[in-house]
Amino acid sequence: MSEHRPANRPLIIAIDGPAAAGKGTLARRLAGTLGLPYLDTGLLYRAVGRRVLDGGGDPADPTGAEAAARALRPADLDRPDLRGPEADAAATAVAAIPAVRSALLAFQRNFAGERGAVLDGRDIGTVIFPDARVKLFVTASLQARARRRWLELRAKGSDAELSTVETDMRARDALDAARAAAPLRPAPDAALLDTTELDADGAFRAAMSEVARRR
Ligand code: DC
Repeated sequence: MSEHRPANRPLIIAIDGPAAAGKGTLARRLAGTLGLPYLDTGLLYRAVGRRVLDGGGDPADPTGAEAAARALRPADLDRPDLRGPEADAAATAVAAIPAVRSALLAFQRNFAGERGAVLDGRDIGTVIFPDARVKLFVTASLQARARRRWLELRAKGSDAELSTVETDMRARDALDAARAAAPLRPAPDAALLDTTELDADGAFRAAMSEVARRR
């Protein structure tokens, strides 16, 4: 029966990997090319962290963070203050709390709905959509990722030092990989894409050939 044929399942593209590996640029471009909605799931954790900070709470406190996750509204993702060191740290803290992750699960699954979607994050291919048709694990060396993030910050007028950006990134990577709840790791069936030596076009071409292979 046709509805059971895998080709008829909505196309879900799960893109996981560490910070500044090029996931967002790639995911947005894939979504635009394939006509799919795109969700940057890091924004969910950032918005939860912001809600906790707004209330004067500690993002590492599970009770307050879970309440903030349950109160999250789509409009929170449009806040202008979801980037920067304070939001980074708050997001990493709330992301380590299992009750926060459970509270955000339905939002992510509903987002893809019947239509399919491209989602990027840390646990999309392992926890949120373990059956996603296409899974990419996008990485790059710490030095390459820190440099990209530093250039982005400089373009926005920040005078952050490259060495500080690299130190912060190493610490956040370690927390994301070491936490008990949905640690950052490739799904066994994910295709690895190392962007250290690739520009955005090269990463896009590699990803599109993986999409073609799995569709
Ligand atoms: O990708 P990002 O830097 O915006 O993510 C912010 C934080 O949230 C970071 O610590 C990783 C975490 N995160 C997560 O645990 N799971 C996701 N699906 C997305 C982000």
